[in-house]
Amino acid sequence: MQSIFRGRHFIDLEDFNKEEVETMLEVSFGLKKKFAMGVPTPYLQYQTMFLMFFEQSTRTRNSMEAGIAQLGGHANYLDSSGMQIAHGESAKDTAIILSRFGHAIACRYCNWGIGNKYLNEMAEWSTAPIMNLQCDLYHPFQALADLMTMKEKIGDLKRVKVSIIWAYAESHKKPISVPVSQLLLFPRYGMDVVLAHPKGYDLPDWVIEKARASAARYGGTVAITNNEAEAYENAHIVIPKNWGSWTTDQGTAVIDDRLVANKSWICTEEKMATADKDVMYMHALPADRGNEVVDSVIDGPHSIVYDEAENRLHTAKAVMTLLMGGR
Ligand code: CP
Repeated sequence: MQSIFRGRHFIDLEDFNKEEVETMLEVSFGLKKKFAMGVPTPYLQYQTMFLMFFEQSTRTRNSMEAGIAQLGGHANYLDSSGMQIAHGESAKDTAIILSRFGHAIACRYCNWGIGNKYLNEMAEWSTAPIMNLQCDLYHPFQALADLMTMKEKIGDLKRVKVSIIWAYAESHKKPISVPVSQLLLFPRYGMDVVLAHPKGYDLPDWVIEKARASAARYGGTVAITNNEAEAYENAHIVIPKNWGSWTTDQGTAVIDDRLVANKSWICTEEKMATADKDVMYMHALPADRGNEVVDSVIDGPHSIVYDEAENRLHTAKAVMTLLMGGR
């Protein structure tokens, strides 16, 4: 088993082999147990982490801030609009300076075509780990928490049908990073993954190719459909969530004709009734209630969204412990 994590960047889970992802999960479960028992976990005493945000956050910011405090360290929250980045300071200079001041830099930057490049530029220059708090392409902390939650609820995930389903929303033109990281990760666990979306909401071809290669290697399947009903049918887990049409239309309009034409893609009790009787409803949150999902589903007996959100804390602590501590 590979056990050298210290100093590595965390841009996506694709950068870690399956045994390493397993180690992250084991550490997450261990930290969750200790948190429940009130056992101190001072693995990162006196360490400082910088949390840079170009966009808003509830779960990600607070799982990292609470997490490092519970590990004995400290987080500096940095709103990018209050940094010299706003006057054009480069990713290189920001990364070099912050990595001399502390032990890790985490960053959320979701601008299409910019965010992932920015993180990789920081990773090139930083002497401390760079952690991706969501970019235009990936949201590895979310995917890891989702995997932890599914394993916690089901155990062995082989041949479990999980459907990643596009859903209607009006709040903002959301990144594709959540479904991309999920589609890359779940086939590595031999799951039967269905990706369902209306025409125009495609994920990048290279993501589909990688997902299909993992499915072939690990004994699962990946199916892509424009038929929402196929995704719900007999599914064990459904993840109906909005993402923007970034791969086909780079415009920033939140509501356009294509979106409005697909208003029927909302998760309802009727659709859930076509899934497995024990189907679980997941969502990274925040949910656009009344558009992505009806209240009776997200608040109903099949919903596991709060357990999923809680696992953001335990997985964040695991990744910080391994990358900033470890050996
Ligand atoms: N799921 C998630 O990343 O939530 P926040 O946007 O609140 O961080």
